[in-house]
Amino acid sequence: MKSQTLIFRLALAGYSRIAAGIPLTKLLDTPQRLLRDAVSGRPWQFRPQDNVVRIDAAKLELRETELRRELARFSKWTSRLGYAPGTAGNLSVRLDKERILATPTGCSKYLLRPSDMVITDLDGHLLSGTRNVTSEIGMHLTIYRNRPDVEAVVHAHPPIATAFASCGLALDTPLCAELVMALGSIPLAPYATPGTEELGASIEPLLPDHDAILLANHGAVTFGKDLQDAMMKMETTEHFAQVCLATCEIGSPRPLENTAVDQLKQAREKYLKNCQ
Ligand code: 13P
Repeated sequence: MKSQTLIFRLALAGYSRIAAGIPLTKLLDTPQRLLRDAVSGRPWQFRPQDNVVRIDAAKLELRETELRRELARFSKWTSRLGYAPGTAGNLSVRLDKERILATPTGCSKYLLRPSDMVITDLDGHLLSGTRNVTSEIGMHLTIYRNRPDVEAVVHAHPPIATAFASCGLALDTPLCAELVMALGSIPLAPYATPGTEELGASIEPLLPDHDAILLANHGAVTFGKDLQDAMMKMETTEHFAQVCLATCEIGSPRPLENTAVDQLKQAREKYLKNCQ
């Protein structure tokens, strides 16, 4: 068969699927069938499994719409708490196995709309969106790569936690039962320039054992099973920093004994089971 004829038939086979409502992205999931139809010149025929393809695509679209809204909502929440002054902070969420939905760079987190969000692959390449992705996408991707259980990441500059990070202090003294239960302890990653690969590398060793990390002279990053979980961990981090500051000002902080810390870890497991 002449190559022009094959190209024409391929285009026709593709067009007949699009006309029948098969989304463009799904055409590539069945390349053999597309090629077979083009070579034989057979017209496209509906098969029940094509309906499944359509339902899957509709579900994915719905998920994207919901996550765009969530991302805008939690961006605003971060801003209203005073954790993201100016253009500070960025948030992201896994869209599916291969794609990340993230906030764009250089924007007020208060003003972001769902349509402003951008999509990248797992290497940070922009797949869709009218703006550039956050300059901290490298740090977000390091977290997703190292922690398959993580679905969402929040990076912010909450003032008191950032002050501790700027004094070279981790939040790792067990002063407060709730903090030990919620996060264990909050370590400090060494300083790295924002927006560089080094920032991702600076947190990597801490990722297996922590869900909240202070970034030296910069801010904090938290992550979890969804955006709300990651956001609540950011709130808890800042709250604990405030408690630490107040205990230092009042004087004579009294950290919990090791046995109490161990009991809190057990209590945490029970608590989390009850939350499910
Ligand atoms: P982006 O505007 O690129 O998201 O960066 C903000 C920030 O907080 C850098 O650390």
